[in-house]
Amino acid sequence: MAKMAASAVESGEDAFRKIFKFYRRRSPPPDFSKVIDFSRCAPSEQIVPVNLDPAAVSDVEASRVGLQPVREWRAFGLRGHPGFIFISNPFLCGAQPFWLRQCLKIYPQKPNICNLDMHMPSSETQDIWGKSVHSLRFALAGKREAKTLLERLRWVTLGYHYNWDTKTYSASNHTPFPRDLHHLSVHITAACGFPGFISEAGILNYYRSDSSLGIHVDESELDHTRPLLSFSFGQSAIFLLGGPCRQDPPTAMLMHSGDVMVMSGPSRLLYHAVPRILPAPPGHLALEKGDCGPASSLQDGSVLEPVSEEDWAVCSRYIQSSRVNVTIRQVLAPGQKFPETPSSYQRTGAGQKDGYNDGEADGESGKRKRSSSDSADTVET
Ligand code: SIN
Repeated sequence: MAKMAASAVESGEDAFRKIFKFYRRRSPPPDFSKVIDFSRCAPSEQIVPVNLDPAAVSDVEASRVGLQPVREWRAFGLRGHPGFIFISNPFLCGAQPFWLRQCLKIYPQKPNICNLDMHMPSSETQDIWGKSVHSLRFALAGKREAKTLLERLRWVTLGYHYNWDTKTYSASNHTPFPRDLHHLSVHITAACGFPGFISEAGILNYYRSDSSLGIHVDESELDHTRPLLSFSFGQSAIFLLGGPCRQDPPTAMLMHSGDVMVMSGPSRLLYHAVPRILPAPPGHLALEKGDCGPASSLQDGSVLEPVSEEDWAVCSRYIQSSRVNVTIRQVLAPGQKFPETPSSYQRTGAGQKDGYNDGEADGESGKRKRSSSDSADTVET
């Protein structure tokens, strides 16, 4: 792999694109042996331990959002990428089902915006979960119907709703950010040395086994001094972290269910992408409710709620073949306002393109971009 990356750079090709295509290839399957697996690795020349701030979050505060005490978290960085922090599944046993249920049942609800709103009246996308569970339970029984709305969900935006067309946020397209997700984000960012984080925008991406997310930089936020936070649930993925230029060969790493990533400081504006979804290895789909479910250990003031057996049956079915990623961003510095923009930039969700997906980043700007179709999970790089 290193050899391939070097030859791409030498020939002046876009090294990121070449490596993206390498990992996306189906036949013959790529060699995954150079992909970093933080769940199994020890510090090395490339991988450095990251010291978090255990005093920033009390054990009680952590457990209220389903996290282990900060001193138990395994956090790593990559040499050459200061500000990049990978936290290998810091969740308490039994907490992930709650967060996954929120991603599938609660966050897609109005007033949040999703890809289905682009071509359906909101009366139809009002209750995606309610309209899907019946068929998904049938699917459990081995019968198959047309794809449910939940299976057609590709993205949801929260808070300041990202406009996929203009690649901007605006003051006029904003709804309240979920409080539970803000609490979770605040504690993780505080432990990473960023007190006072304000969760202002969220993008949830829903991946099927053949999905990918193209090469891009998240630069639409107006304040780049604040970190970008990413949570993964369900199936595993290969995440590529590049440099500030497309010529910089990216590092490949696995993201498993429960893993958290923070891009901050000099790593906040690096190119990145998800070329491939991979089956979660045994023991890594750490979502089984079991005896350690949050119901038995909920703290006073916990944001977690028990997940019913009925809800869990649907969630667990869904993640057998899917991955959900949630990125949280602070858009504005404290006190900062959006600049005046032409009214054409202040469109609402209804005017936007309808598609997930697998948006290959715009080659020019490298900002995240999605194609207008949500049916084909292909990326053109
Ligand atoms: C991911 O799915 O892990 C990355 C999502 C993103 O870059 O927005």
